[in-house]
Amino acid sequence: MQLQQNISLLPYNTFGIEAYARWFAAFSSLEELQELNELSADAPQLILGGGSNILFTDNVNGMVWKNELRGIELTGEDANHYYVKVQAGENWHRFVQYCVEQGYAGLENLSLIPGNTGASPMQNIGAYGVEIKDVFHELEAYHLKEKTVETFRLEDCAFGYRESVFKKKYRNQFVILNVSFRLNKTPVFHTGYGAIVQELENMKVQDLSIRAVSEAVIRIRSSKLPDPSRIGNAGSFFKNPVISKAQFLPLQASYPSIMAFPADNDQIKLAAGWLIEQCGWKGYRKGDAGCYEKQALVLVNYGNASGAAIYDLSAEIIDSVLAKFGVQLEREVNII
Ligand code: FAD
Ligand code: EPU
Repeated sequence: MQLQQNISLLPYNTFGIEAYARWFAAFSSLEELQELNELSADAPQLILGGGSNILFTDNVNGMVWKNELRGIELTGEDANHYYVKVQAGENWHRFVQYCVEQGYAGLENLSLIPGNTGASPMQNIGAYGVEIKDVFHELEAYHLKEKTVETFRLEDCAFGYRESVFKKKYRNQFVILNVSFRLNKTPVFHTGYGAIVQELENMKVQDLSIRAVSEAVIRIRSSKLPDPSRIGNAGSFFKNPVISKAQFLPLQASYPSIMAFPADNDQIKLAAGWLIEQCGWKGYRKGDAGCYEKQALVLVNYGNASGAAIYDLSAEIIDSVLAKFGVQLEREVNII
C-alpha cells in the first residue's frame, strides 16, 4: 500500500472530470484498510469504487481510498439457493456475468451496470424490474471510528428506491468490505419490463434462460445509455420522483401523456426523463456539459466540462421542472 500525493482523479470517475486528491491510496486487504485508518486521525473524505455514481465539483482536499478487495466465493447452499460472497472491489458486471455462467440466478437483469460490487448496496442498485434487495443476503462493513467489522442483514440496510442506511444515516461511517447474495437454483424470470420481452423476440429466443435475459438487458442498455469510455456520464443523474396521488391527478389532467408508474404505498413514480424532455433539455449542450440526446435523465461530459458546469446544468434542470410541473427532482449522483 502506497500513500500518494496530488493524484489526478480523472481515470477514477466515469464522468471524466479532472479533479485532484490531496492524498490517494488503494487498499486490497482489511489489514491495509486498518493501516490507512490508523494513519489518518480524521475520517477519510471519500471511499472510491468504480467512480460511476459521483460528480467531483472540486478537488478533494483530503484522502481518497480506493477499494481493491478481490474474490468471489460460494459460501453455502440449500435446496433452493446458492449463497455467494463477493469482495467489494470486484467489478459488478463481471460478477454478474460470472453468476450467469455458473447458473446462479437472480442478478441477470442487473447486467452492465458499471461500478464495483461494494457500492451496490449504497443505493440498492436497480434496473429492469430488479433491485439488489431482492437477492441480498448480508454484508460486512468496517466501522471507521469503532474499528470493528459489523454484519448487516437485509432488515438492517433500510433499502428503498436508490436508498440505503449507508447513503443517509451511516454516510461516510462504514467501508463495505463484501456483499453476500442469495441466488436461485431455479430461475425466476423478471421479463415484465416491456422492452425485455421485445428484445427477446428480436433475438428469436426460444428457451428462456438467465443468459438470454442478461443478453437482452445488455442490448437494451447499450442502445440508450452512453458508454462512459466514449462520453462521460454517471447514468441517471436524477431519481424518478415519487409523488402522492393527490399531486398526480391534476398533473395528469393538464398533461395526459405524462409517463407515470405505480409505486409503493399507493404513490406514483414519474419518469423524470419525460419531465426533463418536456422542458426542452434533451440534446441540450452548453460548452462540454449536456443532456444526453437519447435519454434526458443522463447528463454528459462531451470532453472537458468541469464538475461545476455539470452541477450548474443540473440545478437549471431542477428549477425548470419545478417551475413547469411543480415537481422537485432529487439528484441520484453523489456530489463530492
Ligand atoms: P462510486 O461511484 O465509486 O461510489 C458511489 C458512492 O458509494 C460514493 O458515495 C462512495 O463513497 C460510496 N462507496 C463506494 N464503494 C464503497 C464501499 N466499498 N464502502 C462504502 N462506500 C462506498 N445505477 C443503478 O442503480 N441502476 C442502473 O441501471 C445504473 N446504470 C448506470 C449506467 C451508467 C452508464 C452509469 C455510468 C452508471 C449507472 N448507474 C446505475 C450508477 C452506478 O453504476 C451505480 O450506482 C454503482 O453501484 C456505483 O458503483 P461505483 O463502484 O462506481 O461507486
Ligand atoms: N423517457 C422520456 N424521455 C427521455 C427518457 C425517458 O420520455 O428522454 C421516458 C421513456 O419513454 C420511458 C420512461 O421515461 O417510458 C422510463 O425510461 P427508461 O425505461 O429509460 O428508464 P428511466 O426511468 O429513465 C430507470 C433507472 C435506470 C435504469 C432504468 C431501467 C432511475 C433514476 N433510473 O431509468 O437506472 O437502468 O430505469 O430499469 O431509476 C441509474 O440509476 O443510473 C440508471 C441508469
